[in-house]
Amino acid sequence: MRRGDLDQVIALDATVTGLEKRGYWRSVYRRYGVGEREQRHFLVAVQGRQILGFLIGEVRDWEFGSPPCGWVFAVDVRPDARQAGVGTRLLEAISALFRRAGVTQLRTMLALDNTLILSFFRSQGMTAGSLITLEMDLD
Ligand SMILES: CC(C)(COP(=O)(O)OP(=O)(O)OC[C@H]1O[C@@H](n2cnc3c(N)ncnc32)[C@H](O)[C@@H]1OP(=O)(O)O)[C@@H](O)C(=O)NCCC(=O)NCCS
Repeated sequence: MRRGDLDQVIALDATVTGLEKRGYWRSVYRRYGVGEREQRHFLVAVQGRQILGFLIGEVRDWEFGSPPCGWVFAVDVRPDARQAGVGTRLLEAISALFRRAGVTQLRTMLALDNTLILSFFRSQGMTAGSLITLEMDLD
């Protein structure tokens, strides 16, 4: 990920989610995209100058009492570049970086009704894990 890729990442996210979140993406870039980091990764798949997709993740140490593991928390591939292996290659790339950091487990979270993301992660070998999410309204 480079600074010059940011506009395309913001546009791709807006296409998928329907919201343009420029401030959010700037802060994600500062946190995950700048410099060489062993724990945080902001990966893009490119063809020429075009961003085909991106994936973001990080190693989280001892969160929820669990040994260090690799979390993937965002993945998007351009609608016109899907089902051609881009998502798979992005996940393989971050998995290799996580392994290099000594991590042996991969985790993610997804909305229960997002069957597309679920199909993708299932195809990569991911299954239901040992943690569950809990939430409540605070208003
Ligand atoms: C999920 C996503 C990342 C997959 O990217 P992709 O580049 O199309 O994935 P791949 O081509 O590597 O597909 C790998 C496997 O995923 C599964 N898969 C991908 N697209 C699928 C679809 N439309 N229906 C069912 N399974 C699908 C298949 O098992 C596929 O393997 P196959 O090609 O051998 O059948 C992409 O569809 C996407 O960006 N979707 C929107 C993501 C989103 O909602 N993001 C916001 C929340 S983070």
